[in-house]
Amino acid sequence: MNSSDQVWWKSSTVYQIYPRSFCDSNGDGIGDIPGITSKLDHLKTLGVDVVWLSPVYESPNDDNGYDISNYRAIMGEFGTMADFDAMLAGMSERGMALMMDLVVNHTSDEHEWFRQARSSRDNPYHDYYIWQAPVDGREPTNWESAFSGSAWTFNEATGEYYLHMFSPKQPDLNWENPKVRAEVYDLMHFWFKKGVRGFRMDVINLISKPWRADGSLPDAPVVQQGFLQPAFEFEHMDLDSQPGKGKWALKALHLPDLKASLSRWQNGLHGRGWNSLYWNNHDQPRIVSRLGDDGPQYRERSAKMLATCLHLMQGTPYVYQGEELGMTNVAWPDITHYQDIETRNMYRVATQEKGQSPDKVLRSIHAKGRDNARTPMQWTAQAHGGFTTGRPWLAVNKNHDHINAEAALAQPDSVFHHYRQLLALRKQWPVLVHGRYTLLLPAHPHVFAYLRSDEQHSVVVLCNFSGQFQRLPLTELPDLRAAIPLIGNLPFEEWPMAPDTLASWEARAYRLPHTPA
Ligand code: NOJ
Repeated sequence: MNSSDQVWWKSSTVYQIYPRSFCDSNGDGIGDIPGITSKLDHLKTLGVDVVWLSPVYESPNDDNGYDISNYRAIMGEFGTMADFDAMLAGMSERGMALMMDLVVNHTSDEHEWFRQARSSRDNPYHDYYIWQAPVDGREPTNWESAFSGSAWTFNEATGEYYLHMFSPKQPDLNWENPKVRAEVYDLMHFWFKKGVRGFRMDVINLISKPWRADGSLPDAPVVQQGFLQPAFEFEHMDLDSQPGKGKWALKALHLPDLKASLSRWQNGLHGRGWNSLYWNNHDQPRIVSRLGDDGPQYRERSAKMLATCLHLMQGTPYVYQGEELGMTNVAWPDITHYQDIETRNMYRVATQEKGQSPDKVLRSIHAKGRDNARTPMQWTAQAHGGFTTGRPWLAVNKNHDHINAEAALAQPDSVFHHYRQLLALRKQWPVLVHGRYTLLLPAHPHVFAYLRSDEQHSVVVLCNFSGQFQRLPLTELPDLRAAIPLIGNLPFEEWPMAPDTLASWEARAYRLPHTPA
């Protein structure tokens, strides 16, 4: 192990909180900061080291906080700066670091910088944003916003278009302007001085625009947008969409594609970079519904299999709130139930402008809509899952009667306790954090198998991504006869002596007794 292997965040696990949906302390139906503080022991029990907090800054909430109107103030619905300080102190007391979500590709159009900028071309803030004159009386380029429609909106006062890669209420900042950079560094220091340990930089890959020497911007090839980001790769999130058609064009996952993609990142970054390991976040559907089986028979088993497959790879694992309970997608009957701006805009364009059938569009929303991740956290079996005593801003999934934190903590073999064991194993076995990764059985259509190894230890991970038992081609695997069980999603007593099959959705990891050459 060299000194760069010793950095604390490599052996850490990050837990992402989407504050609006985590825990409501005052009954207004909206999760808030005191609510988070009240649940820190849940994270401690799980073994979390770092909390990634989705935006809590002042915002008009066009995109649920990803449109910031004041970077140095807390959103009123979430609480006060004193509440924030108390939450941070609570995390420090429990040995957890806080990573804030920082959105600086764009601000809200209600940020004071933009109010000033749009008032006149001579305003000192005008050059904080990206402006272009109309071309032939129209938008200057063909760029489409990630939330449907043109990425340009006309501003009467200056007679120009401004750029917004997301909604018109999210104007893009001009990173070519040194004053913008200085402002961002300054506000980062504001939070660092409070004790925040780091930032998750939202769509940081988008801050650089393809400027031409004459100050104009080129047209883009016509492809559907996605959030693609190098340090936090999104490649494996696109494999169940039809290539080039955007996330809503559904396609069944072909497991060898997933193996190839994740393995490319595992091997490509080994010794050179560091992976973020995730299945879920606030933009993605729930993984057990997406790649597992969220029906009653296999929900828990497949959720544990997916967790095992991910957490034993090289990188820093991320757990998105509720993932540790095996929370599932929702399938609401019509668009009025949905709140997400991306989903609602897509539905309007698809049904009204492109003439697609509402049923077909809803099927895509059920599979991929961001509200799947945003239904409130399920704490108990009580009304609204114990998330709020009021009316939740987004409906709680009905299955909170049996999928909830209280039940999961009480059940020794729950999904929660499986995650807890996985987090603990990474602390116990450095090979799981730093060891080299080797893909096994690359072409197998249903089994994801790999080896982790360092000078002292080897670990074999076997995961069945199907609801049928799978026979293992033993000649293509390391010799498992003397292997020692490390973790699995079936009781060790049920593991066959000769492990030549995997049960439906089964996951098993073994330590090999030998020292590799
Ligand atoms: C990426 C965030 O993850 C997403 O939730 C948000 O809508 C966009 N950036 C715009 O800020």
